Amino acid sequence: MTDFEAGQDFLSTLKGRRSIYHLGKADVKDEEIESYLREIFSSVPSSFNARAQRVLLLLGNENMLFWRDLVPGALKERYENNPGDEEVLAKRRGLCDSFSKGNGTILFFSDSKIGSALKGTFKEYEPAIDRFLAQEVGMDEYAMWLGLSKIGMGASLQHFLGLETAVRAAYDINPDWVLDAQMPFGSIEKAPAAKDTAQAPEHFRVIG
Ligand SMILES: Cc1cc2nc3c(=O)[nH]c(=O)nc-3n(C[C@H](O)[C@H](O)[C@H](O)COP(=O)(O)O)c2cc1C
Repeated sequence: MTDFEAGQDFLSTLKGRRSIYHLGKADVKDEEIESYLREIFSSVPSSFNARAQRVLLLLGNENMLFWRDLVPGALKERYENNPGDEEVLAKRRGLCDSFSKGNGTILFFSDSKIGSALKGTFKEYEPAIDRFLAQEVGMDEYAMWLGLSKIGMGASLQHFLGLETAVRAAYDINPDWVLDAQMPFGSIEKAPAAKDTAQAPEHFRVIG
């Protein structure tokens, strides 16, 4: 039997997830967060079940150091030769400050070596493999974002550019791993503004 009551519960989970930029420290043990996120990670699908997704979870002091030192250092390098970008830099620094106060950050990667192996094995799908890897990492990101929201934590999906070299050096990252995004999370210190969810009819067409 189709259970639309359960569907309503699912919808409220989806609608409850928002981008949260003002973070604090939620009263939760690091080990609990780690085990919860691990389970979410292991449930996410991957193309050909090849599991190319990789995650680095920074907790506690490591989260603080990431946003206090590593990211601002990379930002400085990126923007110091562009004096016109001061406003952008100040905005990004403000985000770093807020994220450093949270519980943790998930760094999302794809293992390009798995991608290359898939391209060799499944010749017919070779042109689609990079797309599949990007979709897989997106599924990880969405699943963890939803999972964090479901337990009352706030998170956002960040694509700070130019972090690869510093991240590789700081955490001894396998050179085959390609960094996709960062997800800082913590307690929700400021609720997001209401969101316009209206759609143009052509965005979701139905025939039949
Ligand atoms: C693929 C993708 C990339 C995103 N990249 C960023 C980002 O780099 N920085 C950021 O602040 N938000 C980023 N976002 C968040 C969107 O801006 C946000 O989800 C959207 O405005 C809707 O708001 P909501 O998350 O509160 O529903 C990204 C979202 C997606 C799906």
